[in-house]
Amino acid sequence: MPAIDRARLKSLMEREQKRFVDERPKSKALFERAGKSLLGGVPMNWMIKWAGAFPPFVREAQGAHFYDVDGHRYVDFCLGDTGAMTGHSPSATIKAIEEQIRRGITLMLPSEDAVFVGEELQQRFRLPYWQIALTATDANRFSIRLARHITGRSKILVFNWCYHGTVDESFISLKDGIAQARRGNIGPPVDPSITTKVVEFNDVPALEQALAGGDVACVLAEPALTNVGIVHPDPQFHAALRELTRKTSTLLILDETHTICAGPGGYTRAENLNPDFLVFGKPIAGGVPGAAYGFTAEIADRIAKKQNLEDCDTGGIGGTLAGNALSLAAMRATLSKVLTQEAFGRMIPMAERWTAGVEKTIAEFDVPWHVTRLGCRAEYLFSSERPHNGTQAHDAMDYELERFMHLCAMNRGVLLTPFHNMALMSPATDKGDVDHHTRVFQESVKELVG
Ligand SMILES: Cc1ncc(COP(=O)(O)O)c(C=O)c1O
Repeated sequence: MPAIDRARLKSLMEREQKRFVDERPKSKALFERAGKSLLGGVPMNWMIKWAGAFPPFVREAQGAHFYDVDGHRYVDFCLGDTGAMTGHSPSATIKAIEEQIRRGITLMLPSEDAVFVGEELQQRFRLPYWQIALTATDANRFSIRLARHITGRSKILVFNWCYHGTVDESFISLKDGIAQARRGNIGPPVDPSITTKVVEFNDVPALEQALAGGDVACVLAEPALTNVGIVHPDPQFHAALRELTRKTSTLLILDETHTICAGPGGYTRAENLNPDFLVFGKPIAGGVPGAAYGFTAEIADRIAKKQNLEDCDTGGIGGTLAGNALSLAAMRATLSKVLTQEAFGRMIPMAERWTAGVEKTIAEFDVPWHVTRLGCRAEYLFSSERPHNGTQAHDAMDYELERFMHLCAMNRGVLLTPFHNMALMSPATDKGDVDHHTRVFQESVKELVG
């Protein structure tokens, strides 16, 4: 197995960085102009994380591709980090948006689309009651609040190196077994160990111990970790998680925002799980802001018993623009016409093809990496062993190497998510797109170790 030569990596990175800058004069000029009005030259702080010296500014996107302002065409496997898993601007969603936008955007009154969406979500996820939020972060926060409200318990539990959006309680990680604020946590309102317990994914004894005190309102979990590379659950993990949460009267929130890649009903339906709450955001409205959270009849009943009409608008759940007519029209079209069973039937084989292509190069050059897949999402990690928990996955990360792979890819017309080595297939992604990535990946690895 060849070790990565760091000096070679550095010089290759410099070469790629020069190419990136030289080939993108218009993006460079826009970035310089943007720096005079936008902090860091971008409208949202994550957008400075791309591997190039500046982000490519986008001219237009359609389906699985986009063009930057310099005219480069990219195959987009980032897809807005799942927000555009539908493919960019799917025609059914666009049609619904165009029709709705002339008939009112937001009213704080329900439309018929809201009922359709509730019924559709009911069928997909087999949970009877639903509420709409604007983002998955909000849907998680509202679910946590409700869990606290109806259990009367103060704490929540998350898995180490999870990500659930900008939920204050979730920015906690284990360092040498001690829970502390996660690295980079900006302005935490309180020490997160006051609000949150954290254990490793797949660690049933630790979970049992953490729930034993009966002070945890809810476990907030992705069914498989997807934000530190992909970490799959052990075969019996979900059964144990459900049994322990039930035994201790702890509620279980499954955040399907990314694991929706497993199929139209997410990992929950694919594996027949039974959460108390389920959260689904990002691509639910084809990229228009929107998210949903659903719960069982028992939870609905407990919420209803504690409902207070007079204070319902200031209780910490909901938002002015949540459930707006435009988001709901986009959700209706996206759920019924875009993120369908038939679409997943095309997306998942594309991810299988992507995985096989990456696997072939890993074997050919004998690099100590592996590739894994969950539905239409695939990812390579810089370790030969498959991680069993968040720490192992996190330890396999290599920021320098990751940036090189991403920059090489961008220079050759491929976009991966800037956070790790994730690739997502949309209904519009085809074999040619996947094979393009396979060639670029092979070329990059060859440069690195050849
Ligand atoms: C699993 C999961 N849940 C929730 C979120 C938050 O989504 P948003 O940033 O759209 O609120 C993310 C974002 O990456 C996520 O990965």
